[in-house]
Amino acid sequence: MKKIKIGIIGAGSISAFHVLGYNKIDDVELYAVCDLNLERAKAFAERNGIDPARVFDNADDMLKLDEIDAVSVCTWNNAHADCSIKAMRAGKDVLCEKPLALNYEQALEMKRVKDETGRLLMVGFVRRFASNTAAVKERVDAGELGHIHYAKLSYVRRWGCPGGWFSDKSKSGGGPIIDLGVHVLDLAWYLSGKPKLKSVFGVTFNELGNMPGIKGISKYKAADYSEFNDVEDGGTAMLKFDNDLTVLLEASWTRHIKEDRSSLELFGSEGGLMLDPIYEVFKRDGDYLTNIKPLLDIEGVDMDEIFTGEMQHFIDCVKGEKECICPVEDGLAVMQMLDSIYKSAKSGHEVVLR
Ligand SMILES: NC(=O)c1ccc[n+]([C@@H]2O[C@H](COP(=O)([O-])OP(=O)(O)OC[C@H]3O[C@@H](n4cnc5c(N)ncnc54)[C@H](O)[C@@H]3O)[C@@H](O)[C@H]2O)c1
Repeated sequence: MKKIKIGIIGAGSISAFHVLGYNKIDDVELYAVCDLNLERAKAFAERNGIDPARVFDNADDMLKLDEIDAVSVCTWNNAHADCSIKAMRAGKDVLCEKPLALNYEQALEMKRVKDETGRLLMVGFVRRFASNTAAVKERVDAGELGHIHYAKLSYVRRWGCPGGWFSDKSKSGGGPIIDLGVHVLDLAWYLSGKPKLKSVFGVTFNELGNMPGIKGISKYKAADYSEFNDVEDGGTAMLKFDNDLTVLLEASWTRHIKEDRSSLELFGSEGGLMLDPIYEVFKRDGDYLTNIKPLLDIEGVDMDEIFTGEMQHFIDCVKGEKECICPVEDGLAVMQMLDSIYKSAKSGHEVVLR
């Protein structure tokens, strides 16, 4: 059987998880890699058995390889649009990491090129591939929660700014709202039936900075770490949708809290549930209030499970065997939410979508 040849654009931290997934699929070959940092690309190639002749320091040269069928875009956010567009124009299918782009305008252009070229452009909404997400989706789709009117999302870190490009707005587009908020916002929106955004009131905080110089504990740092920081350290937002869903979001990289926390709760007329940190359902049963704890082999976020699921789905879509569950349209919708939060925070006013 002909192998699907993959090119990796950006050989940093997350590319290792793409590789983890690809390596579990028989008819996939890691074929080429590029990174602005050539040494990093070379080390990636050596680790993953890629011919040194197919290692590049830019995407343009790599994309000239006709044999490449599909690419993973694993670069800083500011290169997602450019690399994905070039790859589609070169005839490749694309899996682009989240967030889809730096902003809504770039994301729109990506969709335009996807439509023009007819290529696949899948967004890396990896949390959709968790078994607890699938279990919740089944329950919600069966109508068991009734009308979901409220979602409460929290993704907060006490001392968790990765630094480097993450905290450089020109490369990231923003701080914890775009980096962490994107995951939970997408999940809540996806699970509650992808309603249309109506209005957003957002606030961002710039009070703590990235708190360099903390002693006694360590944290995850970007590969090209620096203490430069011109993004928010936290934010909160209320989003309203056309199906009368209200979403409350909070995200932080630095905040004076006891410990890091990630939680996602959905509340409906017939029941409520918590997906994160564990899956539990809350209902009324006759005259009694009941808690249901479905048993799952994997609780919470397991990087192996979600990235394996994501890569498998991407390859199934490349082969035309499945319809993409993370299409560019979804990336665009989430990008609109993120952009609107930042716009509202900047202006101090609610953003109303028409
Ligand atoms: N899905 C998830 O859970 C998850 C987790 C972490 C990061 N991410 C996303 O993955 C992306 C990369 O994050 P990371 O943590 O791997 O960052 P990283 O800094 O470790 O790696 C990014 C790499 O991209 C390279 N790069 C930047 N611009 C490039 C360009 N134009 N052409 C080629 N290479 C380029 C950099 O040199 C770097 O080696 C980001 O968009 C981030 O939001 C997703």
